[in-house]
Amino acid sequence: MSKICVIGTGYVGLVTGTCFADLGNSVTCLDVDETRISKLLKGIMPIYEPGLQEIVERNVKAGRLIFTTDYVKAVKDAEIAFIAVGTPSGVDGEADLQYVRQAAESIADLVDSKIIVVNKSTVPVGTGDWVAEVIQKRRNGRPLDLNVVSNPEFLREGSAINDFMQSDRVVLGSENRTAAEKVAELYAPLRCPVLITDLRTAEMIKYASNAFLATRISFINEIANVCEELGADVKVVAQGMGLDKRIGSAFLDAGLGWGGSCFPKDVKALAHMAVLHGTHPQLLQAVMEINRNQRRRLVYKLRKALGGLNDRTIGVLGISFKPNTDDIREAPALEVIHLLENEGAKIKAYDPQAMENAAQILQKVKLCDNPYQVAEGSDALILITEWNEFKQIDFNKIKELMNQPVIMDGRNLWDEKTLKNMGFQYFGVGRATKPTNTLD
Ligand code: UDX
Repeated sequence: MSKICVIGTGYVGLVTGTCFADLGNSVTCLDVDETRISKLLKGIMPIYEPGLQEIVERNVKAGRLIFTTDYVKAVKDAEIAFIAVGTPSGVDGEADLQYVRQAAESIADLVDSKIIVVNKSTVPVGTGDWVAEVIQKRRNGRPLDLNVVSNPEFLREGSAINDFMQSDRVVLGSENRTAAEKVAELYAPLRCPVLITDLRTAEMIKYASNAFLATRISFINEIANVCEELGADVKVVAQGMGLDKRIGSAFLDAGLGWGGSCFPKDVKALAHMAVLHGTHPQLLQAVMEINRNQRRRLVYKLRKALGGLNDRTIGVLGISFKPNTDDIREAPALEVIHLLENEGAKIKAYDPQAMENAAQILQKVKLCDNPYQVAEGSDALILITEWNEFKQIDFNKIKELMNQPVIMDGRNLWDEKTLKNMGFQYFGVGRATKPTNTLD
């Protein structure tokens, strides 16, 4: 059992701290946001994450998990301090490290015993070295037995607990192998492969992994667009590709592209780092461009189907960037809604979990209580996020309520044939039924 402190109770910090407590460690989670901590103390989760609340409650009750805003209480006697604060990206993609710096300086000010500082936040390659420098500089000659370890997270929102408890791998980067091994002990109960590397390589593994997954999605979206023109079905194409073990089937779902708090930020940051260091990240640029186009293409298809968008009422199903989360950061829905509003369309929308977050930024959108309210009087219905709830929709009712039976299935969730047989005009992504024959 180790004495752990986790700085930052955002998505990563909260899940990581809670899971370490569940593995029997004594964990103090610290945040400077008092509202957040006071809510957590009352058992109110700041994010929607399946299973999180139960595990938090269980470990708080057992006395293994403590929430505080008191830096002294949190870091003073910690053997291992995880930094899991936000690293928002600026316009050019450069990560803003002010919160990492604050955490590092607080550690420098308050800790005198041997400590391992573990970086969980996704940070530019070289930040681990920088954190060590920031701490030692702040000590102003007072010696501190410090080791920095980079431990990137690979948690997906919506399945973060499971991803933690059943990790594919743990990556630990440090210039001190003993320090990395000490952190590895925390993960021993998970019995997953542990890769120990140098600091910069570990930091790079995180960027490369996320950029690769985003690349797969942009790749299949590009294939989808070609399928649409040639009359092939991208769902089956992806299935056929995925059966090849060298390819695999994950992250080959064509749709409206990737969003969220990680992929957009990380691909942009990696491209920025590449440019900054004199290389030309052509593939990464294309991956981002394809992703932007995916949203524009849907709007183009809708404009064509309706013969214009001005004054049309468009119903949107799903606002969160993917199912099982209330997170709307960089959500495709936001961009699609923005594009439609720019063309004079009126938007109605519903999401099973993200309504509170949506209400804060979608001022012009009429937020509805369910899919049927969205359908009422709509000239078209767009599915943007493939929540399970949308699989069981009563399309007879939807058709009666809609002004025009036009459906844009942005995630290929519904059965094309069934909907067409019911009299809907159905458009999926990459699923053309009318090939343009260019062989004649
Ligand atoms: C991602 C990484 O998967 C995780 O390892 C990392 O640590 C954080 O970033 P997350 O952002 O929670 O996790 O979501 P993920 O499930 O990876 O999906 C990202 C985006 O890609 C979503 O917008 C999703 O809709 C989209 N996506 C995913 C597709 O469009 N097609 C796919 O086949 C898979």
